[in-house]
Amino acid sequence: MNILVCGGAGYIGSHTVKELKENGHNPIVYDNFEAGHKEAIINTKFVFGNLSDCELLKETLIKEKIDAVIHFAGYLAVGESVKIPEKYYNNNVTNTLNLLTCMKECNINKIVFSSSAAVYGAPKRIPINEEDQLDPINPYGETKLIVEKMLKYFEDAYGFHFVALRYFNASGADPSGNIGEDHYPETHLIPIVINSIIHGKEFKIFGTDYETKDGTCVRDYIHVTDLAQAHVLAINHLITGGQSDIFNVGSGNGFSNKEIINVSEEIIGKKAIVNYTERRAGDPPTLLADSTKIKKILKWNPKYSEIKTIISTAYNWHKSHPNGYKRI
Ligand code: UFG
Repeated sequence: MNILVCGGAGYIGSHTVKELKENGHNPIVYDNFEAGHKEAIINTKFVFGNLSDCELLKETLIKEKIDAVIHFAGYLAVGESVKIPEKYYNNNVTNTLNLLTCMKECNINKIVFSSSAAVYGAPKRIPINEEDQLDPINPYGETKLIVEKMLKYFEDAYGFHFVALRYFNASGADPSGNIGEDHYPETHLIPIVINSIIHGKEFKIFGTDYETKDGTCVRDYIHVTDLAQAHVLAINHLITGGQSDIFNVGSGNGFSNKEIINVSEEIIGKKAIVNYTERRAGDPPTLLADSTKIKKILKWNPKYSEIKTIISTAYNWHKSHPNGYKRI
């Protein structure tokens, strides 16, 4: 099937493009390189464009005979969303509305959407399942929730079929070592720990007084290839007439920030230089997914999400790309 991958040059997008191809689909990447990387697009059809450009979007949807869309092209930094909320509403909400409207006008009604565990806010119980309270604590999570609701209304009004995937902590890199994680600026723990160890630089750990096993926050790390596979299953589900649904995508295993450092030191064979500092605003102590639903309905079966596999594949990529992708 012809799949338009908005944000296909980004981290999760590029890994999904690879999985789509390996599963017989024909992905077409639509990206403006604001967060994506040219180098991450390997032998794949590409359109340079913005989600606000309705003419180009519609032209692409029709010309490429698109059957379904995967939408990764959102902003993702929680802290930035608190400081500059309009940036998040503009891109994550307005541009997504534009995409949905263009799809409607081109009679394309299947979409897989990148949602986030951030829709739950500070969870009331652990592990979190899809029925738990939705109570985002920052504009980033709020914009993801707005789009989930928008999708439901587009389903009611226009017969859209959607799958929203609520990611937990995406991490790791493709086992080939060709594509990996490179955000600018980087805010995620694993790439920061690995890069800092490689370059012998100090990094901060935010908070040591949480009510967790060792006082640092606990997160559910899910390998990006397993996450990519979830998108392929979601697309196949929609294409074969499956109904709209929302799924958590996490490994169900919790690792503290200190544990991530320990495993990274072990894999890299070098000590980290850690500055234990105050808490970061908006960090819930523990996030852990109950992913029973996606395993049951989409038959999702994560294969790479053992923590050592996550960190060694990430290290493998960072080692060969010590300064990330080339900046253009
Ligand atoms: N952390 C540090 N030092 C750093 C960076 C992170 O101590 O330099 C800590 C954070 O405080 C947190 C943990 O590492 O305790 C994980 O932080 P990340 O930024 O890697 O990931 P988050 O859990 O904050 O964010 C992830 C996704 C978001 C999503 C959120 C759901 O990246 O997109 O989960 O709440 F919104």
